[in-house]
Amino acid sequence: MAKMKQTTVYFCQECGHESGKWLGQCPACKSWNTFVEETVKVQGNSGKISSSLTDRQVAKPAKLSDISTEQEERIGTHMEELDRVLGGGIVKGSLILVGGDPGIGKSTLLLQVCKALSDDARAVLYVSGEESLKQIKLRAERIGTFTDELSLYCETNLDNIETAIQKEKPEVVIIDSIQTMYSEQVGAAPGSVSQVRETTARLLQLSKGLNITIFIVGHVTKEGTVAGPRVLEHMVDTVLYFEGDRYASYRVLRGVKNRFGSTNEIGVFEMCQDGLKEVKNPSEFMLSGRPEDASGSVVVCSTQGTRPILLEIQALVSHTNFGYPKRQATGTDFNRVNLLMAVLEKRLGMQLGDCDAYVNLAGGMKVQEPAIDLGIVMAIASSFKNRSIAKEMTVFGEVGLSGEVRAVGQAEQRVQEAVKLGFKTVVLPQSNLEALKDSKIAETVKLIGVSSVRDAIDLI
Ligand code: TYD
Ligand code: MG
Repeated sequence: MAKMKQTTVYFCQECGHESGKWLGQCPACKSWNTFVEETVKVQGNSGKISSSLTDRQVAKPAKLSDISTEQEERIGTHMEELDRVLGGGIVKGSLILVGGDPGIGKSTLLLQVCKALSDDARAVLYVSGEESLKQIKLRAERIGTFTDELSLYCETNLDNIETAIQKEKPEVVIIDSIQTMYSEQVGAAPGSVSQVRETTARLLQLSKGLNITIFIVGHVTKEGTVAGPRVLEHMVDTVLYFEGDRYASYRVLRGVKNRFGSTNEIGVFEMCQDGLKEVKNPSEFMLSGRPEDASGSVVVCSTQGTRPILLEIQALVSHTNFGYPKRQATGTDFNRVNLLMAVLEKRLGMQLGDCDAYVNLAGGMKVQEPAIDLGIVMAIASSFKNRSIAKEMTVFGEVGLSGEVRAVGQAEQRVQEAVKLGFKTVVLPQSNLEALKDSKIAETVKLIGVSSVRDAIDLI
């Protein structure tokens, strides 16, 4: 029996930085007061990785020409929105982290994945450390009928889980959630940084050794009381974040890191009575309920990954009653809004200094892309002048500090999406127009090129 050694280590709860003594500020991520003491029991021989799985996998250096570039094997989930975010389906033997606030729908989403896979006669194991078998069954009944390919397992001890996985050899395993799992080799409590790191490392070995795909659920809390899955992001192949307003029905699944596909892809879902429904056309969804002829409202063509989405930007500019004007941005970058308002003041002489301004992306989407700059500027100007923007017009373009409108990528896709939704006019950067002028799409829609913010404001 290997000798157990106990040591005390301090971990940053924010980034997982390890230190021998307590520190006020983390030297790695610079956050304050995040160090927590944890006792770590180290097995005598833990210098080398213990699992026998890795011993079989000893790799040798190889020549590039010897490596086959065969497509990695993928499993489709019949959920287009999820497959797209994963880069075309689940890659066999990959480790996928699904993060998100509690209650956002992670367990529901993964149970639906289980259903889709087990319907295809693939063996799936769902390990829950949070809910009882009865609770899972109640949830499953809302989602639909399951085949017997799905096995459920309520367990938090990783040794037992490992044994179950090795015995059952499922194709896909769900671990819900990593914060409840523990390994006896580590003395710290479940959810602590050292536990989360150790359990993930062992799951990584399992997934690579047995060529099983493992989904790991991780909760993110603002308080940082549980080790956030940030610590794990560099260990796993793919990181997906499930986000959205808990009170709004739609949810966005966002790829943050993906070793097998592009990031920035999003999948849109709607939480219904019987589980999550895919939203195949998010533009339509986001634009429903748009006001008629209201000032301060404009539709922008934004892109999320490879997919264009039309969104409504609303601005409300009103005279401030106090000496200090209030500014607020929901769904987009507050500093960017301030900067664009400064451009309007300086380059167009708009007196915004004594106005409150509120900018809102309707529908609750979060977009940081510079291509929506022109939309923000036009919404603010429209509200300031109290003149509405034509209903069938949509805009996109990046705004520079001297008030110039700069080209953005994927212009053609943006225009196509606008045409698809019946928009008659698209306002776009002049340089994007030059490139699009001779293409087929220019015949179906009126394209107006603008090279400065002033040109664009004149259209209101
Ligand atoms: P859940 O998947 O448990 O969230 P997480 O695992 O991320 O903590 O989702 C919980 C919420 O979803 C809960 O408030 C109930 C709601 N819900 C529905 O609205 N419809 C459904 O069919 C299901 C299963 C859940
Ligand atoms: Mg859950």
